[in-house]
Formats: sequence, C-alpha cells, structure tokens
Amino acid sequence: MKLTIADIAKQAGVSKATVSRVLNRREDGVGDDTRARILKILADTGFQPSATARCLATGESRSIGLIIPDIANPFFALLVRGAEAVLNQEGYSLFLCNAGRSVAKESDYIRALIEKHVDGVILNSAGSALDTQVEALEAKGIPVVLLDRVIKRRESRFGVFVDNQHGAREAVMYLYSREDCDLLFLNGPAELSQSMERLAGVEEALHELGIPAQRLRVINSDFTPEGGYHAVSALLGLAGKGAPLPFNAIFAANDLMAIGAARALRQRNIRVPEDVELIGFDDIEFAAMLEPPLSTIAQPAQEMGASSAELLLRLIAGQKPRQKTLVMSPKLVLRGTTRPRPASATQQTPHTGAIQNG
Ligand code: RIB
Repeated sequence: MKLTIADIAKQAGVSKATVSRVLNRREDGVGDDTRARILKILADTGFQPSATARCLATGESRSIGLIIPDIANPFFALLVRGAEAVLNQEGYSLFLCNAGRSVAKESDYIRALIEKHVDGVILNSAGSALDTQVEALEAKGIPVVLLDRVIKRRESRFGVFVDNQHGAREAVMYLYSREDCDLLFLNGPAELSQSMERLAGVEEALHELGIPAQRLRVINSDFTPEGGYHAVSALLGLAGKGAPLPFNAIFAANDLMAIGAARALRQRNIRVPEDVELIGFDDIEFAAMLEPPLSTIAQPAQEMGASSAELLLRLIAGQKPRQKTLVMSPKLVLRGTTRPRPASATQQTPHTGAIQNG
C-alpha cells in the first residue's frame, strides 16, 4: 500500500505539518533531532511525497511553468538555463512548454499549467498583441512574469527584457561608421515587440546620421535560418547575376537569420566581410563558432532568465517588488563578419562598449 504523510508522521510521533515542513526543506518549526528522525524514516521507507497531496495540504505545488516561443532557437535555451538554475536552487521544478511559434498552442499550455496548479508562470510569448494568456493566469491568482517579449504595454506587467532599441542602434551606428554603407535590415515578424523595438533602433540611428528613412531597405522574416536564407537569396536573385549588390551590409534581428543570410551570400561567392558586412542579434553559443565568427548584439540571456525567476519567486512569496520591469543592456560584440574601423571613423559615430573579437 502506498505510504502517506500520515503514516510517516505516525512512525515519527509528530504531526503531518511537521513532516510537510521537512519535505519542503523549511527551516522553521522543526528541531534538529526531530528532523533527523523524520529524514531517516523517509529514507528507510523510500517515501515519495504525492505532489497532489502536497498541493492540497500547502496550496503550493512547488512547480513553475516556463513557456518559450521556439525550442529550435538556441537563444531560448540560454534563457531557460538561467531561470532553471534559480528555480531548482529554491526547490522548484520546471514545466518547460514550447509554443512552437503558435499563440494557439501557447494558450493550450496556459490551460494545462493552470490544471497543474503551478505556483507561477514565466511567459516568453509567441505573440505580442494578445493579453488573454496573462489574464487567464491572473484570473486564477497565478503570478506571471514576462520574459524577453513584451505583451502590449511593458509597464503594465512584471517582466525582464533587453533594450532592443539600443542594441539595434549600436549595430547600425557601427555599420554606418564606414563611408559607403548600404544597409539591409533583416527584421523578425513585424507584429512582435522585438521587431518593432529593433526597427525603432535602426530608424533612430539613421535619423542621428541624417540618413533619410526612405534609404532603408527592410525585409521582415521569421527569426529562422531558412527565413534569412530565402530573404537574402530572393533579393540577390532580383538583382540578377553579375549586377551590383543591392546592399553591402546586413543587420539581422537575430543570429539564426544572420546564419541563413551568410549561407545565401556564400552560395553566390559573395565574401563576408569583404563584400558584405554582417551583424546578428542574440549571441547564441554557435555565433562565435561560425567561420568567420559572427559579429552580433549580445543579449545577457542567462541573466535575463535568472532575473525573471527571482522576480517570480518574490511575487509567489507575496512580496510587492517596487521595480516591475527590468530592462537589461545588450552589447555589440565585434568578431569576423565586420571589418575593423580606423579609430577616427568610430569617433564620428560614437558607440560605446563594443567588445572586439568577443
Ligand atoms: O532569436 C529569437 C529572437 O526572439 C531573439 O532576438 C529574442 O529576443 C526573441 O524574442
């Protein structure tokens, strides 16, 4: 017959609440001798607490839901790694949900997490326009922290983000710190907050440089390598064989599209960075492994994930953090897909904090 907390409590001569405190690693309310006696009985019997029983007894499941938009993108793995380390440290287990870039699938996972009585959710949404997912959770009293992607207005939700506009501005200021830059901006899906904020950064840089916005060529793709490859291939195809290149610099709104774009260029014997310079966004672990290594805008992804978990645990503990949103700073990392600039050039278009050959 399956052992229950009541059986353990009876063997140890204590209350069920005392056994529950030991199971939940609570320091308060249990003497050392009692704790040792209970732990020995748990070990000797091989007792496995029932998550459902624990949830009914304490109202806590000690579990967190983490929803990411696309498990195929290594950027999200970095976010998960940071969040998981914090949650495991505090004795929480993680239900990782991959929305597969589908808001409908994301909503299905929200319902599943509610049924599992998770104590909180970290949501990196597949869509930026819908608030329904957050409202469904908050209606059940389940705290939500947004991670990386804003849903509607940033100030209305607890969240951890990166300064996308600043990162995009940095990339474009660097590319234009050469005389003849002719830029292609390969952006993500137009409706995502990421894409809107990065476009704003590109436009901010052009405005600062006195370059008419009409000069900017923008293609919205889908944050995948295939999307980047097909977008650049199509543009080069339009230009025709042997025609002058329609651009000599690409800023891609994520590393995966930059990788696809580099393949399209390579297939046409277009050299990077000699003929076309290339900067990505994210700094996934493969970026430095490419040949040439990818220059990119690095996001502090693991720190973002860790901070979102810390913020959520404070909400679960009933605290009211004064700072609702944390916006972290990205960093320009210059590697092999951009050309060095003479010192004078970068003074003309100041950009701060670029890491050389990071
Ligand atoms: O690579 C996927 C992109 O979408 C990243 O830049 C990240 O910000 C995510 O939201």
